Amino acid sequence: MRRSIIAGNWKMNATLREAEALVTALVQRPIPETVEVVVCPPFTAISHVARLLAGSRIGLGAQDLFWESAGAFTGEISAPMLVDLGCRYVIIGHSERRTYFGETNEWVSRKLRAALAAGLAPIVCVGETLAQREANQTMEIIDQQLTSALTGLSAADLSRLIIAYEPVWAIGTGKNATPEQAQEVHLFIRNGLSQRFSQQAAESVRIQYGGSVNAANAASLLQLPDVDGALVGGASLKADAFQAIVQAAQRRGQGAALK
Ligand code: PGA
Repeated sequence: MRRSIIAGNWKMNATLREAEALVTALVQRPIPETVEVVVCPPFTAISHVARLLAGSRIGLGAQDLFWESAGAFTGEISAPMLVDLGCRYVIIGHSERRTYFGETNEWVSRKLRAALAAGLAPIVCVGETLAQREANQTMEIIDQQLTSALTGLSAADLSRLIIAYEPVWAIGTGKNATPEQAQEVHLFIRNGLSQRFSQQAAESVRIQYGGSVNAANAASLLQLPDVDGALVGGASLKADAFQAIVQAAQRRGQGAALK
């Protein structure tokens, strides 16, 4: 059974004071053994959040990185810098980066390699736009994004890889994918991993769903066989909502254990 993973993507939110209030609330809540919980603050708050998380079971991640380790790349942050701050995870290829900052599949692939080389667990985001879904191109787009990201990786690399399926039309819109839509794409991704690597390797990869996950819809998405967790944006900024999503992931773990 794959361990559920719930990650909070704070995006460009939280001053140090706000970050402190949120993390202080989060660390007071119980984290179920069956769930891996991660927060991804903005770069400016990472080191403060790292100190506040000391001794807690909540993992720390970043929202992006650059593929070079160091050098003349003004404004960029490298994988070794993130490791230095205590990050163990990094989001790569989020659709907002693809849309607003021109990230290409090629960049995502380079960033993924840099993250793996530094020992980070990458959360690689894939997903189609509404126009692509309506044109029946969803699987084609996901396949292109996956092919570019995964080419050249070994089965061993997969053990740390996390994939987040985030339909672009569901991000920040309050319009989440239906359980059927999510499971269909998650299974497609897992089958793609199986064909490229092995069934065993594919079974080990966690695939998160992201896009308007909240306390009310988390349970219906997290109980799906190929949904192993959630990448949560807006709802991760409120301790109660985030905790409710973590609890929904725990129930998934219990349900599977009883089978
Ligand atoms: P959302 O964002 O939960 O606010 O839709 C998810 C994400 O972009 O990772």
